[in-house]
Amino acid sequence: MKEKIKERTEAVERILNAYLPNEDKMASEVVRAMNYSVNAGGKRLRPMLMSETYRLFGGNKPVVEPFMAAIEMIHTYSLVHDDLPAMDNDEYRRGKKTTWAQYGEAVAILAGDGLLNYAFETALKAFACDGADVHRIARALSILANKAGIYGMIGGQDADIAAECADAPLTLSQLLYIHEHKTAALIQASMMIGAVLADADDEAVETIEKAAYEIGIAFQIQDDILDITSTFEELGKPIGSDEKNNKITYVTLKGIDEASREQKELSNHAIELLESFGGKGFRNEFLTDLVKSLITRLK
Ligand code: IPE
Ligand code: IPE
Ligand code: MG
Ligand code: MG
Ligand code: MG
Repeated sequence: MKEKIKERTEAVERILNAYLPNEDKMASEVVRAMNYSVNAGGKRLRPMLMSETYRLFGGNKPVVEPFMAAIEMIHTYSLVHDDLPAMDNDEYRRGKKTTWAQYGEAVAILAGDGLLNYAFETALKAFACDGADVHRIARALSILANKAGIYGMIGGQDADIAAECADAPLTLSQLLYIHEHKTAALIQASMMIGAVLADADDEAVETIEKAAYEIGIAFQIQDDILDITSTFEELGKPIGSDEKNNKITYVTLKGIDEASREQKELSNHAIELLESFGGKGFRNEFLTDLVKSLITRLK
């Protein structure tokens, strides 16, 4: 599995590199900072989930590739802004200095903005790809826009920041709102876009949205656990960031053992949903193994 993940990570990075802006043609600090943040590494989970969900429903055309690059650009921009002094104030990410620590705050803000905009410039290139279907691409663009915005990731990040200085302690349902939006939304976008581009029917896209919700919540619970149990060397980002910022996480509310049990339960149910497509002839063993591997991930 490790070998397979490595191969697919490299495949994602080849696609990503083909779509990143060319620094030589445009020697500007913001472009250098954009490429620095994306090239710093990372698991490339979201583009991988997208291409594997596309394959699950029989997709096999390059039309998914610009969307794979776009989702990683949006995810990376969310991290660039998440690390800013005004937000989580972290100086390391993916084993390197965060974008603001390397380029200064002004360039980091612009690099985040640049990546968000470039994500849509990139996704629009799908119209010119082999396998392009105008209606499916339009639907994929609308999912991308919605799940990244105020009804998705930005909404979750806003609630996360507001919770830091709330008067009353955070309830479980408020925390789930934060996790759903700040993290699950981009995972839902990844998998739903894969399904939509492969022409999965509406019922299947809805099931994928549910499975991706559970995968996303489980993923953020593990992120909260690793913030306590891991090391800087392993994670490539500082541990104890949540405590430093006064964040209530799944672990603060439930303890590590219960948080861990619930994230496994969510993940198992998501896998059941994915395997339910087997009856219709849609199977992707790597995708289920990838989801399984997330609950025991160490970084
Ligand atoms: C970090 O995401 C932010 C969360 C939503 C928990 P990842 O853990 O996917 O970060 P990279 O892309 O591998 O660096
Ligand atoms: C961030 O959650 C999720 C985003 C949308 C960026 P965290 O703040 O917990 O992510 P890390 O731990 O810094 O990667
Ligand atoms: Mg944060
Ligand atoms: Mg953070
Ligand atoms: Mg975290």
